[in-house]
Amino acid sequence: MADLKRYLVPWMDQIKPYDTEDLIIAWSRPELKRMMINENPLPPSERILNAILEAAKLGNRYPDNGPRLRSKIARRYDLSSENVYLSHGSSEIIDMIMRLFVTPGDEVLLPNPTFSLYGIRARVLGGSVVAIDMTPDLQYDISAMLRAVTPRTKVIIICTPNNPTGDFILDDDLTKIVELGIPTLIDEAYLEYHPEHDSKASLIRKYNHIIVAHTFSKAYGMAGIRAGYALADEELIQYLRKMQLPWNISLLSLAAAEAAFDEEEELKRKAAYNNAGVDYLCKELGKIPGLKPFYSHGNYVLIDATDTGGTGKEIVDYVFESTGVMLKHFAPLRGRKGFFRISLGTHEENSLCVHAIKKFLGNRKKEKQV
Ligand SMILES: Cc1ncc(COP(=O)(O)O)c(C=O)c1O
Repeated sequence: MADLKRYLVPWMDQIKPYDTEDLIIAWSRPELKRMMINENPLPPSERILNAILEAAKLGNRYPDNGPRLRSKIARRYDLSSENVYLSHGSSEIIDMIMRLFVTPGDEVLLPNPTFSLYGIRARVLGGSVVAIDMTPDLQYDISAMLRAVTPRTKVIIICTPNNPTGDFILDDDLTKIVELGIPTLIDEAYLEYHPEHDSKASLIRKYNHIIVAHTFSKAYGMAGIRAGYALADEELIQYLRKMQLPWNISLLSLAAAEAAFDEEEELKRKAAYNNAGVDYLCKELGKIPGLKPFYSHGNYVLIDATDTGGTGKEIVDYVFESTGVMLKHFAPLRGRKGFFRISLGTHEENSLCVHAIKKFLGNRKKEKQV
């Protein structure tokens, strides 16, 4: 047997892959309720399915890089097609930005908590992650982020609205970050749920070092189909093209993404369904003493249960065992161990989840009184 370690990049042994254990369980047990990974509970429309079927008939052919869809996207943001790069979901953009800018020992600056894939893709390249805790009310701590910048900071991540905290970065704070002139990924994966908030894409006319990432996985509801896009200055898009694997986005994904992009009413319907669920969860959970839901502009709600005396893990385990609803708990933040996240399900699933949480906390209260 060869000694792989002799050849392996030295930091690879320390890398923990993105955890997909929950997905393996969920796919093997379809009766479970998937409220742990920020999917859309509503399936793709007939129009999307038909587009995929038509594209599949040409499945013997290699795809192009989607000039028609790129020009539609460009028009929506008042940009040119040369500012648009189509990708295999926005995860690909996250990975490519790291590969463009990070070499071993370089630093990637991001908030904590945030989407865990950023850190993983930085570490795969030997980069170190400088994670700055958000403020106690879970806003970006911009002064702390600015203080953490060093000559080795090669990428800054701004997720807005942030997963899992749900809020947008303030414009003034974003300006302070962008003015640093360091490559900055502005991840707007959840923005389509709140189109009344402007995209930061207009900044790319002024700054050539920012990349705005979007996905068809969330409000468009196509996580399993895989499509996303980056918006950036032409020069930066050219670098992405150099890095690109040809045919990164399949003919089927391209067709589905274009059909979804054209279906504005369907997108509004999906966003409204989600946002009604967010309102319901925040209202119902906010009534429970000690439970603090953080209002979210995404398809998830982060909750701090620390003041109930319960940990996020206890609640997530109880809800799973009693109802088959899968949720996600988070590492302690500022010593508080009660964080867990509910990804929006159907209205019925949301209600099932709320009742299970109430029951758990009710049982706890009774146990304490005995
Ligand atoms: C903030 C954020 N960005 C990007 C992604 C990745 O999405 P995809 O690769 O499916 O586009 C996710 C997925 O949960 C996310 O939360």
